[in-house]
Amino acid sequence: MRVAVAGAGAFGRNHLRVYRELETAGLGVALVAAIEPDSARAADTAAKYAIPVFPTVDALLSADLHLNAATVAVPTVHHHAVAAALLDAGLDLLVEKPLATSLQEADDLIDRADKGKRILQPGHLERFNPAVLAVQPQLHRPMFFESHRLSIFTPRALDVDVVLDLMIHDLDIVLTFANSPVREVRAVGLPILSPKVDIANVRVEFESGCVANFTASRVSTERVRKLRFFEPRQYVSIDYARQDLLVIRVDANAAASVPAEIAAAIAAGKADPALLARLAAAGAAGPAPGLSFVKPEVTPGEPLKLEILSFLDAVRARRQPQVTARQGRNALALALEIQASMVAHAHRAGLDDFFMPGA
Ligand SMILES: NC(=O)c1ccc[n+]([C@@H]2O[C@H](COP(=O)([O-])OP(=O)(O)OC[C@H]3O[C@@H](n4cnc5c(N)ncnc54)[C@H](O)[C@@H]3O)[C@@H](O)[C@H]2O)c1
Repeated sequence: MRVAVAGAGAFGRNHLRVYRELETAGLGVALVAAIEPDSARAADTAAKYAIPVFPTVDALLSADLHLNAATVAVPTVHHHAVAAALLDAGLDLLVEKPLATSLQEADDLIDRADKGKRILQPGHLERFNPAVLAVQPQLHRPMFFESHRLSIFTPRALDVDVVLDLMIHDLDIVLTFANSPVREVRAVGLPILSPKVDIANVRVEFESGCVANFTASRVSTERVRKLRFFEPRQYVSIDYARQDLLVIRVDANAAASVPAEIAAAIAAGKADPALLARLAAAGAAGPAPGLSFVKPEVTPGEPLKLEILSFLDAVRARRQPQVTARQGRNALALALEIQASMVAHAHRAGLDDFFMPGA
């Protein structure tokens, strides 16, 4: 399978690396070209991967390279233009998240993919995070989600706000886990270091009664990637960055002591800080009797590699991708609703001058 990568920036470079690794491993894929308008980045990419790097989609397509598939990792505001041209040229696509910046753009891409019978997978790579894959059997009836995704400021992805840049990962995961239509969105967001919203807090209520709180920041002093959810008699904590999963259940027969694996995680400083605080409060004896602590096995792996393997598998088998374009559209629809709620909040708070509408 002959693939190209559009956009050799911060994240496109990871796609280039993974495709080449898969090629070297003999997994039936060949990285044959890239698109990158920045001449210095284009030259670096051409030298590093020994491939032609074209400045535009048109230049790539006129080179007649018999491409089968591509990754689109250009800035989000250009996803639609680049993806539409590549789909129309007959390529299957992995388009970085978010799928597009508007529902019209997303619908247009879905329409083109459907008409041309192309695979169109949005790059929601947290779905392939091993901790997320391992949590599936623990999902029964989540009623409350608490999500934190905090990053240290870097001057990248400033074409979109923090909701489309970072929170979109968690919106997709929670929409999938909650599996219920959205009833209500309440959001606050503020621009801090960029003209667009850099920090946002959102409460989403679903028709099922499930509630999700999301916090996303790209102006934090620490890096956090966590999702916790509560079900009747069960608490689940996912650390995306550590690929770590902890389940605490109310279990009348559970022993009062901390199991060896949890004790080891605590000793290694790998336990959830909230858990540590509770254990400290409970004293050295550990948690109350009746709680069982389980650390389901997580098979470590690079989410991007797993995502690309899954994409290539969908391309080969001509099957629906594991993350569908419609799911990408759903996450985008919720992100846009959140943006509208943030604008309304800024208006109520008299922050119209401070807040950039449409950001
Ligand atoms: N899945 C993730 O975890 C993750 C992480 C980071 C970024 N991303 C996504 O990846 C995309 C790129 O983000 P980034 O941080 O790499 O941005 P970036 O600005 O570092 O890189 C984008 C690159 O695309 C190039 N480019 C611009 N217009 C182009 C065009 N029309 N055709 C081809 N190339 C073009 C730019 O010159 C630049 O080199 C964004 O959609 C972002 O949301 C995803």
